[in-house]
Amino acid sequence: MCGIVGYIGPRPCAGILVDGLRKLEYRGYDSAGLAVLDTRASVAGEPPRLDVVRAVGKLSRLDDALREHPLIGNVGIGHTRWATHGRPTEANAHPHLVGEVAVVHNGILENHVELRRELVAKGRKFASETDTEIAAHLIDIELANGASSLFEATRNALSRVRGAYAIAVVSRKEPDVVVVAKSFSPLVLGIGDGEMFAASDVPALLAHTRDIVFLEDGDIAELRRSGPKIQRLLVHGDGSPERFTVTPVVRTPRRVDWSPSQAEKLGYKHFMLKEIFEQPAAIENTLRGRVVLESSDVDGTEIGLGDDAVQRIRRVVLLACGTSHHAAIAGRNWIESLAKIPAQVELASEFRYRDAIVGEGDLVVAVSQSGETADTLAAVRDAKRQGAKILSIANVVGSAIPRASDAALYTHAGPEIGVASTKCFTAQLAALVLLSVWLGRRRGVLAPERAQRLLQGLVEVPSQMRAVLEQADACQRVARRQIYAPEARDCLFLGRGLSFPIALEGALKLKEISYVHAEGYAAGEMKHGPIALIDAQMPVVVVAPRDQHYEKIASNVQEVRARDGRVVAIVTAGDSSISAMAQDVIEIPEVDPELTPFLTVLPLQLLSYYAADLKGTDVDQPRNLAKTVTVE
Ligand code: M6R
Repeated sequence: MCGIVGYIGPRPCAGILVDGLRKLEYRGYDSAGLAVLDTRASVAGEPPRLDVVRAVGKLSRLDDALREHPLIGNVGIGHTRWATHGRPTEANAHPHLVGEVAVVHNGILENHVELRRELVAKGRKFASETDTEIAAHLIDIELANGASSLFEATRNALSRVRGAYAIAVVSRKEPDVVVVAKSFSPLVLGIGDGEMFAASDVPALLAHTRDIVFLEDGDIAELRRSGPKIQRLLVHGDGSPERFTVTPVVRTPRRVDWSPSQAEKLGYKHFMLKEIFEQPAAIENTLRGRVVLESSDVDGTEIGLGDDAVQRIRRVVLLACGTSHHAAIAGRNWIESLAKIPAQVELASEFRYRDAIVGEGDLVVAVSQSGETADTLAAVRDAKRQGAKILSIANVVGSAIPRASDAALYTHAGPEIGVASTKCFTAQLAALVLLSVWLGRRRGVLAPERAQRLLQGLVEVPSQMRAVLEQADACQRVARRQIYAPEARDCLFLGRGLSFPIALEGALKLKEISYVHAEGYAAGEMKHGPIALIDAQMPVVVVAPRDQHYEKIASNVQEVRARDGRVVAIVTAGDSSISAMAQDVIEIPEVDPELTPFLTVLPLQLLSYYAADLKGTDVDQPRNLAKTVTVE
């Protein structure tokens, strides 16, 4: 995790770097810091100064520190940290300054133990417990040993490390350069007019440029005001006469269509709340240009599979983590019901570490908002090695998972800043319905009339979502009465069929932002254990829209009520039986039973949001979490 930024240009850089870090704070917020080259002294023939300011805690603490010790200069790097190696202390905060070099890093250097031992044996003194400081020492040593440039020193140093990194380096010895490199951790460059930017993610650059270079793994770049010089570093295994080779590469900038205002709160108290309300528009963007009502079909050009390839699919394997995994569970159900293809869902973090068997005939669908989740990326690479076709469903264009895939279906939901995923979840659902309809139509198992009704229903989902979101005040009242209530320490979420992943998602949302213990359960599993938890203090949120599971879940509600459980029911408008048993009811409009998840998840997101806000937790940056999990 962690976020890094870099700047070189004519403008004072401290503010630019801090603003960039603010957009990356979702990646980690244990500590933050800047290193800035002050070249004013060099005018008088003195070497430039390289000053570092760091602070433990959120960026506001760095702001305070910078007020006390302002950093002046036009070249610098910055970091916001999610602690991996070493506690969140000032000594462990980045940038790490060694000799005349400062380094920021996102990732994990896997051979840090052996390298540290080697450096200590050579008399090197360490000021922190981090793996990053090792990289700073290695670069410093290369410079001392006569490397001709910071670029060369960094390249030589990186040829010695194993693991994941996005790194940015500045040095007093070469004050008109920032060197950056990427391997497995995300890093993008922003091309300005006479200035260059680097960052872990696009939103950090949007205030300055929309011309973005997406670096590839193995890229190392020297950034000057005039532009980047990029090379590809290929490190050879032991036994090769040369330790590494480098070859120049050209990476063409892409113009991204996100606007700076999309990365602002725009009057909402939290990004999460804004993103909950952005969902109707996000779905419209996911559907745009893809639903073809005239032919009761989906334009699946981006899916990149010819008719023969579609016929040859024997199985669909969905890989994902966290919230994306919940979307993938719904996706599995749709692929089976609409395309009649056997489908299974896998937690990428489990799949990658067992001897999972995939191969020809398997379509692997990787679902990831960020497109950078380390476990999903590794699982995709493994599946590809075994010969499976990979389609990714991602939000961040050009991110690692789509790049590692054969094709990508982007959700186009716009930047999601809140750590708790909301709009990207429903956008993933939309992409998965589109994929299922497309497959079903190609394989001749989905009748045009059924596809037409479904697609028409999908197009109407955004306006139905708006109607549900109008009940935000009611959700706030229920959150206060049921979840924020002092006696409610735990919460159970129940659902069946397509409402099961929604129950899982409701529980995850509540846990991650309000720290209330919550469990999501398939309602049919209640009798196999969780029913023992039910008592008069236990709020049970039941996701019970009108569908083929309604009667079964109504029985489950009776079982909860018979044990004095407190029921909050999410039901279809006009419902009477479950509503009569529940203490609180939130209604969704009537919708095709296949499409209920788009609507039932909204009250759950709002319940979690308001419960967390009432508790006063840090909704957008909950403790211990980071939005993009780029470490195992
Ligand atoms: O970027 P991804 O969709 O791959 O991220 C997967 C999970 O880390 C993510 O969904 C996480 O569970 C969210 N914080 C949930 O709100």
